[in-house]
Amino acid sequence: MSILMIARAGHPVLQGRAAEVEDPGAPEIRRLVADMMETMEAAPGVGLAAPQVHVPIRLVVFRIPEGRGTGAEDDYPLGNSVMINPVIEPLGPDMALGWEGCLSLPGLRGAVPRWTRIRYSGVDCDGNRIVREVGGFHAVVIQHECDHLDGVLYPMRMLDMSTLGFVDEIERVMQEQAASQEGMSA
Ligand code: NI
Repeated sequence: MSILMIARAGHPVLQGRAAEVEDPGAPEIRRLVADMMETMEAAPGVGLAAPQVHVPIRLVVFRIPEGRGTGAEDDYPLGNSVMINPVIEPLGPDMALGWEGCLSLPGLRGAVPRWTRIRYSGVDCDGNRIVREVGGFHAVVIQHECDHLDGVLYPMRMLDMSTLGFVDEIERVMQEQAASQEGMSA
């Protein structure tokens, strides 16, 4: 296995629609999945789409770590997973804003609207069909990764670009605000 180079925003491989995977069980696909999982863990990140490692095909890897979700029943954790030729469908009209970052936009973060509940389906490398209905953080990760397969980076979904900023700067400001609020109530 090896750690792959991650394409950054501006690279054309991140733009446009990625191609369907013809043979999900092909040895080169299994090798790519193993390398992408290793790359995701090393980054570290919770998801990676094949175009991000310069392979423009419809394949994503992801993981939903314990404790990252909202705690809702449909926002359950999941170990390293793969979805090939995934399809997403929203379950209901509700959307919510949440902070997102992307390994292709290192150091940045922004508030992005996403469907709160979705059904997603696809296949794994053994040809098993996977269908899940999920919400919360789990649903956000899937929507973010699948957007990469259509050339969409999260800032293209943002409604308020003033929330785009550097992670360390946003965290510094939040800490200062929390500290000043503590001061006010003391
Ligand atoms: Ni991303």
